[in-house]
Amino acid sequence: APLAPASYHPKPWLGAQPATVVTPGVNVTLRCRAPQPAWRFGLFKPGEIAPLLFRDVSSELAEFFLEEVTPAQGGSYRCCYRRPDWGPGVWSQPSDVLELLVTEELPRPSLVALPGPVVGPGANVSLRCAGRLRNMSFVLYREGVAAPLQYRHSAQPWADFTLLGARAPGTYSCYYHTPSAPYVLSQRSEVLVIAAAHHHHHH
Ligand SMILES: *[C@@H]1O[C@H](CO)[C@@H](O)[C@H](O)[C@H]1NC(C)=O
Ligand SMILES: *[C@@H]1O[C@H](CO)[C@@H](O)[C@H](O)[C@H]1NC(C)=O
Ligand SMILES: *[C@@H]1O[C@H](CO)[C@@H](O)[C@H](O)[C@H]1NC(C)=O
Repeated sequence: APLAPASYHPKPWLGAQPATVVTPGVNVTLRCRAPQPAWRFGLFKPGEIAPLLFRDVSSELAEFFLEEVTPAQGGSYRCCYRRPDWGPGVWSQPSDVLELLVTEELPRPSLVALPGPVVGPGANVSLRCAGRLRNMSFVLYREGVAAPLQYRHSAQPWADFTLLGARAPGTYSCYYHTPSAPYVLSQRSEVLVIAAAHHHHHH
């Protein structure tokens, strides 16, 4: 389909409800919002010329329902719209790409100590839990303690947890999950052992 010049046919906005990261079986609604009234909306997958789905509505908003999604429905989506006063087959500029991830479990994060896993009593240490997705909630656990030790929401694909030196020695692990329901959880990281530095002074 020929694409129109951006200035005449500005791109729409594409969003997902309840989230862009979901478990299989969730009903996902993709909402395409045009900056002007439109007549037809199309939902596109990359590399495909024909829309995967389309909706005829005379308004600025169209909703595409993906019922009980499967992992195969994950991937990149864009939407476009058309107006009756545009030439035949002319679509707007495409929206930004929306990445939909449908998975039972998110990939395992790594857990590392900064500056390192050996800590003096007066120094602090940061434990960095790093995954591959932005905007997740990270949770740090300490071995022998059932409740989470610390939580952090992060716009970055990692979170840093600061521990005070004297209390830091111990065994830790972390995981992350989507920030709101329906929650998708990662596997737990490998454990990380923080040790106290040895002091070579005499009493
Ligand atoms: C998904 O939508 C269908 C049809 O509207 C409904 O029957 C089903 O219960 C919904 N499933 C969930 C998990 O909400
Ligand atoms: C360790 O963290 C505590 C609390 O944030 C802070 O008061 C202290 O100055 C830090 N110590 C060092 C060596 O950075
Ligand atoms: C990040 O998560 C918040 C909810 O905690 C949500 O409102 C926001 O849209 C998300 N941002 C991105 C870029 O996914």
